[in-house]
Amino acid sequence: MPASPRAFVLRHTRLRPVPGLEEIRLHLADEALPLWHAVQIETEDPDAALPYWAFAWAGGLAIGRHLRAHPDVVAGRRVFDLASGSGLCAIAATHAGAQAVTGADIDAFSIAAIELNARANGCRVTAVRRDVLDEEVPEVDVILAGDCWYDARLAERVLPWLRRARARGIDVLVGDLGRRYLPAGELVELAAYEVRTTTELEDLEHKQGRVYAVRSAGDRS
Ligand SMILES: C[S@@+](CC[C@H](N)C(=O)[O-])C[C@H]1O[C@@H](n2cnc3c(N)ncnc32)[C@H](O)[C@@H]1O
Repeated sequence: MPASPRAFVLRHTRLRPVPGLEEIRLHLADEALPLWHAVQIETEDPDAALPYWAFAWAGGLAIGRHLRAHPDVVAGRRVFDLASGSGLCAIAATHAGAQAVTGADIDAFSIAAIELNARANGCRVTAVRRDVLDEEVPEVDVILAGDCWYDARLAERVLPWLRRARARGIDVLVGDLGRRYLPAGELVELAAYEVRTTTELEDLEHKQGRVYAVRSAGDRS
């Protein structure tokens, strides 16, 4: 565990507008690999996770664009941002008028980034560091899941959890670029947005970020 994740985030990022969502400013880094190396040194852990929290990913950008275009999806509602990273989707939900927003992530740096980014945008977001996929779905109205299908093990666990949420009447929005593990056939595509990520790992080209709804087992649509 680093001494101060907050100080680390501030030291390695710069507050700047998000491409395509310029009303949101995030603490973002320029390059992933040198920052990843710095995380490994800071945590003394060669297996430390990539600094996802320092970038705006395509799935989150698509959800952010969708909430800006359709604020009614979250306005006045309780929102849970799964795998929040920088807190991008959580902040977009707050801007769209959500009543209460929680961002959850397993990474201590992400929690620091969510808190710093929420404050930089004048938003209230509760950041929780937990693997909620082992828990009951939270008591909320909407769950956002931006860019969760980049890893096989995570992918296996996310959809069943989101389906359980849907079966309880929670609206679920998935944002994704069409990554390898995305079960697109099991989702209902709602919209596509041209997005530009902030990580050079994806070569910064314009890409189609898609927003999907999740069906519960009983849904026909
Ligand atoms: C590619 S990033 C997406 C971040 C953000 N949603 C966005 O679209 O910009 C994926 C995030 O998932 C988080 N993550 C991985 N496994 C998780 C789990 N079991 N529960 C919560 N978050 C998790 C990672 O730490 C990382 O911050």
